[in-house]
Amino acid sequence: MMIQKPKTTADTAAMLEMLNRVYHRDPTCHQGMDREFPHLFAPQNHDHLYYVTLDQRVVSMVGVYPQTMLLAGHPLKVWSIGCVATDPLYEKRGIATEILRQVLEDGHDRDIPLALISGERGLYRRLNAVSVGIMIEANGEKTGWQSLGSHMAVGNLRVRQVADADRALLASPLVSLYQKHPSRFVRSADHMATLLNALWFQRPRYDQRLFAIEASGSLAGYAVAYRSLAQPNAVTIMEWGGSLLAILPSLTDILERFGGQTLTMNVPASLKWLNHTFRSHAIETRILPLQGTVRVLNGSALFSNLRPLIRENFGVDLHLNESRDGMWRGTGPDGSGLALTLSEIPPYLFNPYPGLSLPMAWTHDLNFI
Ligand SMILES: CC(C)(COP(=O)(O)OP(=O)(O)OC[C@H]1O[C@@H](n2cnc3c(N)ncnc32)[C@H](O)[C@@H]1OP(=O)(O)O)[C@@H](O)C(=O)NCCC(=O)NCCS
Repeated sequence: MMIQKPKTTADTAAMLEMLNRVYHRDPTCHQGMDREFPHLFAPQNHDHLYYVTLDQRVVSMVGVYPQTMLLAGHPLKVWSIGCVATDPLYEKRGIATEILRQVLEDGHDRDIPLALISGERGLYRRLNAVSVGIMIEANGEKTGWQSLGSHMAVGNLRVRQVADADRALLASPLVSLYQKHPSRFVRSADHMATLLNALWFQRPRYDQRLFAIEASGSLAGYAVAYRSLAQPNAVTIMEWGGSLLAILPSLTDILERFGGQTLTMNVPASLKWLNHTFRSHAIETRILPLQGTVRVLNGSALFSNLRPLIRENFGVDLHLNESRDGMWRGTGPDGSGLALTLSEIPPYLFNPYPGLSLPMAWTHDLNFI
């Protein structure tokens, strides 16, 4: 099986035709995966698109978007992997597995520490991808959000729905709010502007909007919210940035502008007070791992890149080396002996005790890839 990368616009078009068909089997749906993921399909990223051709047609693909995460301000290069698709006529022959293996090998050879994969299915788990991190998913009726908002009682908040034509103009102030969070991705204002004009905001059968929240006249937060027209009463916050003290009391207003009844949002579980606060206002919470799965690509690169973060947290280094049997052995920051398989490394690093609880970037966001 020959794994290729697009060289011409015709190659990309053939790949996209298959991808759109797989993801949108209903022909009334949009056919614009390249507009949904504009950075992934940008010409300068074509070297990170992998596909297989059989019988003179593209039958399977995997997309990679290289990004930098910030973990409590420390940069870590990652490959975000998504748009994994196989033509239904060619499924279950191991084609997606084969492409993913090539991607994982290339990431390793290029010293990329980690891959973030957009899904959780067996296909990824069998290749040693695992869930990590914890977040709170909060889901409540309008009355619950109203009660929470009045309890927080922050004065002088103004919620503004940003007009379509103005979204990208706000990229610069919004990206500075986004970047104030210690563990997110590195985004430039241009990157943000592209995301704010991506197809997510114009998908047929979805209604997605951007809200800017001002506190005492200055921009304090923003929320990207959507609802599916199939379930018009249920609003979901897809991304938020800035102060939760400004965003949480604004959610009733946002819900009302959609004419919705229930609202769902995700917040980091490290904000321990929030789980209790949500529940005391009859907002249901679930504790979940972060969206998607994580796969170590190059363990040595991962440990050497995390060294400053581990030193900052524990005052010592973490020494782990790969043994011949594929296990990573060494000594933890507390001096205890460690022997970890590849898939045990991310939970050890990023999950709470007995893991090290290192911060992980907030993958539940506007655009995974
Ligand atoms: C998910 C998807 C990409 C898998 O593609 P694929 O080429 O069929 O994947 P593979 O053949 O490598 O593996 C798929 C399954 O076939 C099985 N399989 C692989 N080789 C096989 C073989 N020779 N004989 C029988 N079964 C085989 C695997 O065990 C695997 O099982 P799983 O259900 O536990 O994952 C494809 O089904 C698809 O495009 N789905 C719709 C889009 C989608 O959901 N994408 C993923 C988003 S996270």
